[in-house]
Amino acid sequence: ASIPTPVNQPMLNYEVGSTHRKLLKEACAKLRNSSWDIPCVVGGKEIRTGDIQKQLICSDHNKVLATFHQANADVLKQAIDNAIESKVQWESLPFEDRAAIFLKTADLLNTKYRYDVLAATMLGQGKTVWQAEIDAAAETIDFLRFNTKYAQEIYEQQPPANSPGCWNRVEYRPLEGYVVAISPFNFTAIGANLPSAPALMGNVVLWKPASTAVLSNWIVYKAFLEAGLPAGVIQFIPGSGRLVGDHVFNNKNFAGLHFTGSTGVFNDIYKKTADNLVAGVYKGYPRIVGETGGKDFHFLHNSGDVENFVNNTLRGSFEYQGQKCSACSRAYIPQSLWPQIKDKLVAGVKSMKMGQSDDFSSFVSAVIDKNSFNNIQSYIEHAKASPDAEIIVGGKCDNSVGWFVEPTIILAKDPHYKSMEEEIFGPVLTIYVYEDSKFEETLQLCDQTSPYALTGAIFSTCRYAIATAHKYLKNAAGNFYINDKCTGAVVGQQPFGGARASGTNDKAGSSLNLLRWTTARTIKENF
Ligand code: SER
Repeated sequence: ASIPTPVNQPMLNYEVGSTHRKLLKEACAKLRNSSWDIPCVVGGKEIRTGDIQKQLICSDHNKVLATFHQANADVLKQAIDNAIESKVQWESLPFEDRAAIFLKTADLLNTKYRYDVLAATMLGQGKTVWQAEIDAAAETIDFLRFNTKYAQEIYEQQPPANSPGCWNRVEYRPLEGYVVAISPFNFTAIGANLPSAPALMGNVVLWKPASTAVLSNWIVYKAFLEAGLPAGVIQFIPGSGRLVGDHVFNNKNFAGLHFTGSTGVFNDIYKKTADNLVAGVYKGYPRIVGETGGKDFHFLHNSGDVENFVNNTLRGSFEYQGQKCSACSRAYIPQSLWPQIKDKLVAGVKSMKMGQSDDFSSFVSAVIDKNSFNNIQSYIEHAKASPDAEIIVGGKCDNSVGWFVEPTIILAKDPHYKSMEEEIFGPVLTIYVYEDSKFEETLQLCDQTSPYALTGAIFSTCRYAIATAHKYLKNAAGNFYINDKCTGAVVGQQPFGGARASGTNDKAGSSLNLLRWTTARTIKENF
């Protein structure tokens, strides 16, 4: 059977007077006045542990959006046992039947659950309407549809040759054990992708969503179940990362990790699983797939189109408050263009409307939580006090109603100034102005400034300059853009993921990722 060839989900624009706008506004209003209480789900059974955490509205943090029950040791043990029991039936289900569940989930998220999942992403994760549409509608639906197609292509790959009297074939089996999915707050789409990609390939999955994104992820989970996902295929276990980690990684049936989050947490898990492997805890080498931090850059050559650079830099740096792993957070600008660019960037930042995430006229809203607010503020305070830095626009932080940080641009006098090198994960762009004649040296500097290699962009109209940037930056970004912003990879068009300290580069939104969730058995039969 052939899987439908997907096209990218068209986006709605919620223009004034449209039905979509009205329905989404109603969903947001309803969500503000409701109180969800989200359980763990193990083997299809809802479990309320009583260990309750709150998810707040980030732009209005006195309001509780949802409460959820954190998984405890008993729940985690049951989840592992049930996953292993459920594995037998799930992996023997034909691929088409598994694919149908995820294709139907995509349709449900595009219809019945569309406005709820968008509203939950807006209020719970602080996304403005357009950012929520890109993520919780378009990218989520794309992951589910494109992954089924990629999976089918993998299943069809067979050795091209047989010799007389024999038949060679390859069987793509699920991993022997369970997969753990740990998803981040910043993309509902990643929440949908991390557990579903391994499950599509026949694996059973334990899913721990980020505590600051539980509601939107719960709605996605409900859509999986309604689409027919059998009990026990994906266990829903929100809670403390440490507690969940202590159970799921110390078990002989741990077979793989699908992770998006910070480099620090990923490194801890990498070490823990390596130690366990060496100690003989596991049956085999677990598949460790992680997308982690970034210090993503825009690099302007003096041949570049100034308007294009400014527009893309404002969007790439400040949309979703700079909280995309791909967000531009450092820029290199030639001295000759700096005066005009500075004026345009300052004017652009001043025109950005900051407000509640469910106010459809907001361009930016609050950052995710108190820890994040405090961390971002510390970088801004450092810049205010440092002789090596100057804040050229923004810099105000106000947590009285929500976790609001103004879009901020720092000019660094030293190319190794703190905020040129360290990931901040907030609406802070740091700029270094280089002498036009030092283009090549500055490209090398850009490559060597941060340990990360997630996304980056070169802006130039000169083919020699673009080729030179390719040469020096080939290892500096897993997603490299020419004359475009370094955010906004589209599933099916730009497979996403980086190397170095940014992760294992097992490209989300491509067959490379799905290949990680299968173990191939070669069969040779003599006639
Ligand atoms: N795919 C997103 C982007 O490219 C990040 O996860 O912005």
